[in-house]
Amino acid sequence: MRELRIAAVGDVHLDESLRGRYRVHLRDIGEHADVLLLAGDLTRHGTLEEARVVADEFRDLPVPVVAVLGNHDHHSNHPAEIAAMLSEVGIKVLHDEAVVLDVDGARLGVVGGKGFGGGYAGKCASDFGEPEIKAFVGHTKRIADRWRVALKELDADRRIVLSHYSPVKDTLIGEPLEIYPFLGSYLLAEAVDAEGADLIVHGHAHAGTERGVTPGGIRVRNVALPVLGRAYGLYRL
Ligand SMILES: [Fe+2]
Ligand SMILES: [Fe+2]
Repeated sequence: MRELRIAAVGDVHLDESLRGRYRVHLRDIGEHADVLLLAGDLTRHGTLEEARVVADEFRDLPVPVVAVLGNHDHHSNHPAEIAAMLSEVGIKVLHDEAVVLDVDGARLGVVGGKGFGGGYAGKCASDFGEPEIKAFVGHTKRIADRWRVALKELDADRRIVLSHYSPVKDTLIGEPLEIYPFLGSYLLAEAVDAEGADLIVHGHAHAGTERGVTPGGIRVRNVALPVLGRAYGLYRL
């Protein structure tokens, strides 16, 4: 099986003022990549007007496009409508589920979802006390459980996890320590390590670092646009 070329970017935070400004960088993506992954925060404030710009920037590309939403895409309470607008132009939006793409006969599996926060082992929120804290931690736990199931059932030659929030601390270096619990959770890495994957990509941590690894040894890449400083990161599997 030949090497697969994965393009990924998150946190493009598009709005009407950026219309056409991102697409210009995607003209030759078919020569460099087999798939484009979008790691959430595609809009600024999660409005339908902004989502229309996202749909127009990423439609009709020569490679399949797979996306998850980010916290900004939830801000105006229209995540379902935004996902539907992206689906209409052929972008596959994942909600804690898998898609298997056929790339020249190779099965590329992508498990994706927004993820959530809570912090990292030893310094994290726990399932204790007020219902509000239990709800916060419970949201992350349910997501991690769904990823575990999706990965367990995934039948593919190569496996990628696409998230908005970060599963590890490595890729947060540069962010203030005080906000780590709002940038991701170790429970996400635990789920992926349990079932195995070849690569995890995430966004959300604009001031973080591109490269990291899970405790189980899986490559993690923070593809937030401000971290990459280029239109997309390219990773080989
Ligand atoms: Fe962002
Ligand atoms: Fe975010």
